Amino acid sequence: MCSDWNEEVYQSRINNASQFLRFEAASPNAEEIKQYRDYALSCTRDNSRQPRALVLGITPELRCMAAAAGFELISADRSPDAISIYQDWLQEPARSQEKIIRGDWTVLGEQISGGIDVILGDGVFGNIHGLESHRELLQELISLLNPGGGIILRQALIPRGFPVEDYESMVLLEKYRAGQLSDGEFGLAMRLWGMSRLAYNPDTCLLDNKIVYDHYEFLRQSAVITPDEHEVIRRYCFAGKNMILSQDVWEEMLESAGLEFEMQPLTGKDWYGYYPVYCCRHAVQ
Ligand SMILES: C[S@@+](CC[C@H](N)C(=O)[O-])C[C@H]1O[C@@H](n2cnc3c(N)ncnc32)[C@H](O)[C@@H]1O
Repeated sequence: MCSDWNEEVYQSRINNASQFLRFEAASPNAEEIKQYRDYALSCTRDNSRQPRALVLGITPELRCMAAAAGFELISADRSPDAISIYQDWLQEPARSQEKIIRGDWTVLGEQISGGIDVILGDGVFGNIHGLESHRELLQELISLLNPGGGIILRQALIPRGFPVEDYESMVLLEKYRAGQLSDGEFGLAMRLWGMSRLAYNPDTCLLDNKIVYDHYEFLRQSAVITPDEHEVIRRYCFAGKNMILSQDVWEEMLESAGLEFEMQPLTGKDWYGYYPVYCCRHAVQ
């Protein structure tokens, strides 16, 4: 499973390593990070101690935001590649104060002592295959939270009323060529929706990204898409499977885990509608 997230995948997301810049949409941009920050600060109740944040994955934008907002920081990812590539994207002195756990999210309770005020993640549940596994991870995360704590996630989903036919790869390509989609809007939509008909199984809710990217390689070789267009699409590449739920199923899952949630979609970027940030709090406290 780890090989899905390999060095090539991590490197593809980097726009400029010396400036610590990644491509938006695959990574949360400044507007999204502000939303995470506002939600995160609303989950800290006890001003008498430093609040604690747990980042699921090694997403540098989330780790930098949490450290700058004054959180004690724990980050957890099972991939040694992710840790070695992104570890030093957090600047000193925050970097030496961060605790990085190399391990699976499903057993974090064994490695973390004391409560967490905010759990942050970008695209976490897409990596978790199966509804039962979703439920188990939600329960594990809830068990780590202090009273009043929150779980804040950018979650790719099929929004209610989503016009999937407008996101077919050739329709997206036409819109991109007409200047109606930015690189990020085009690249991420091509990954998640462009090949839905062939690569997404509505019974399992799994998108097979290998099918998606093999097809785009074929389109490049056949000169249907240009090398530049292919390069933009490759910024979002992934070889594994992603679980993508409908908004209704995702929200029912949160509610049945005992979570209340807030989700205020941002405006201005196409993916804000299908990759919104959820702020979840445990209802019984
Ligand atoms: C959370 S997503 C982050 C994607 C995000 N857009 C980014 O690039 O920052 C991907 C990360 O999750 C990690 N991961 C996936 N499943 C995991 C699991 N069960 N336990 C720990 N880490 C996991 C992968 O190793 C990968 O580094």
